[in-house]
Amino acid sequence: MRGAAATGAEFVFLCVPTPQGPDGRADLGFIDDAAREIAPVLSPAAVVLNKSTVPVGSTRRVDRILREAGAVTDVGVASNPEFLREGTAVRDFLRPSRVVIGTDDAAVGVRVSELYRGVYAPVIVTDPASAEMVKYASNAFLATKISFVNAIANLCESVNADIHEVVLGMGHDPRIGFEFLHPGPGWGGSCFPKDTAALLNTAEDAGYDFALLRGAVTSNDNQRELMVTKVRDACGGTLTGARVAIWGLTFKANTDDLRDSPAVEIAAILAEQGAMLRAYDPAAGDAAAALSGLEVVADPYEACADADVLVVLTEWDEFRWLDFERVASSMKRAEMVDTRNLLDPAAMRRIGFSYRGVGR
Ligand code: UGA
Repeated sequence: MRGAAATGAEFVFLCVPTPQGPDGRADLGFIDDAAREIAPVLSPAAVVLNKSTVPVGSTRRVDRILREAGAVTDVGVASNPEFLREGTAVRDFLRPSRVVIGTDDAAVGVRVSELYRGVYAPVIVTDPASAEMVKYASNAFLATKISFVNAIANLCESVNADIHEVVLGMGHDPRIGFEFLHPGPGWGGSCFPKDTAALLNTAEDAGYDFALLRGAVTSNDNQRELMVTKVRDACGGTLTGARVAIWGLTFKANTDDLRDSPAVEIAAILAEQGAMLRAYDPAAGDAAAALSGLEVVADPYEACADADVLVVLTEWDEFRWLDFERVASSMKRAEMVDTRNLLDPAAMRRIGFSYRGVGR
């Protein structure tokens, strides 16, 4: 960073982590350090762009730190949140749904917009606080949308409806759409849990009772427990001594990331309740091997040998194409809990599995 800035870079992007601090608030230590470090070497016309997910007010905070740390007075500062998803980040960067720029300086807004001239997307230039809020509101909305569909899925189970049919009927309404309406074990990963917690803290600081978002977070926690109940039921009412095969540990498919993974959290509860776990994940690698309370194996079939129940926790595509007759015949009991609704219930039942999905 220092080298680029010293050569007179016109734009400097801050893309440092903002992990969740012990009190649930975003820890701004990395961003403060980065601002202090670059301040003395910024060229006079430089614009510092913040891509990290930071609470409302942080762009102004970076501006203040830069000046205190010796940046020349006409350095510009802007918020420029990113909306990249793990696993599709390059595509999301090249073809974003929108570009958001938050600055109090119209000239900075124009210069930053120019950077995105080759990108086919609406560009929204707004004030820093609104740009920062766009990022949190977007993640919190998506998380709430998933919590909502999970709640409907849970209700579907009680009234004999099928969540997939329900989502099909809902999604055709363009005001609702199909995206982020896939039920499962609850949302996780390095963003939604951290960002919803940070937004709840922002609300608390502002004296606003954000009951809706708090409810979405609580429902999400409960969803983990509901999945554990399904596994316990499949094991005949107790997990003590049950052999549980797990497919998938990452927080979603097409990533090797285990941070805040629902799969890891569910596995931990199962182990706590006395289950013996053998897990397979195609990508989690060494990080999975370091998890305690479960044995990680290199093959999905090996995970199922002699198991009482198979639990699908991550929606890896490769799981669809396995030899399920081989899987069923290697298990002690052909019980399956598909927390991602990845597999076809009718096909699984034909093979002899007792199949439990989510909301169908
Ligand atoms: C999320 C946002 O989607 C990005 O737009 C944002 O830029 C990013 O956070 C961030 O703040 O950096 P990501 O964490 O990669 O991206 O993961 P998502 O694809 O959004 O999935 C989050 C969780 O929701 C996963 O556990 C996933 O399995 C779950 N999910 C997603 C569902 O349970 N159902 C769905 O329909 C969609």
